Amino acid sequence: MGQEPRPLVGVLMGSRSDWETMRQAHETLSRFGVPHECRVLSAHRTPHDTADYVSTAEERGLEVIIAAAGGAAHLAGVAAAHTVLPVLGVPMESPSLKGLDSLLSTVQMPGGIPVGTLAIGKPGAINAALLAVAILGLSRPELRTRLKQYRADQAEKIRRETLP
Ligand code: RP5
Repeated sequence: MGQEPRPLVGVLMGSRSDWETMRQAHETLSRFGVPHECRVLSAHRTPHDTADYVSTAEERGLEVIIAAAGGAAHLAGVAAAHTVLPVLGVPMESPSLKGLDSLLSTVQMPGGIPVGTLAIGKPGAINAALLAVAILGLSRPELRTRLKQYRADQAEKIRRETLP
């Protein structure tokens, strides 16, 4: 059996309940052939596991971290505190405040510890993956080519749209 390629992106989420949204990031990374791993890690419920994962991410070969959480969404910020790898935050759409709580918790980082925050929910999950591909693509021309093709396919799909 061949060895699995080493993951380049870590996709973290605060709860199993975030998976239905975050599978969009997983599927997008898979579509681009980017090796990645998905983990449930919580800033609040498993703080030490989260710190261990992120602080060893660089030495394990990860190049980008995607972190999704909802409500008091501190996972991306805590991840960013433990690594200099780029951290992309995805605010989950929460039942009570529709993700505004998650968005503000993720985006309002203090100067010095950046989190690149994406849109709430599914578009954010997809775009976090696309941004991760773009970051990896800086040193991988084949990924840049695939991104250009993705954009071209997307534009073509829009051009072909018809209305009733
Ligand atoms: C956050 O709390 C998770 O990221 C999730 O979005 C939210 C609710 O978690 P569960 O109560 O569904 O596990 O930590």
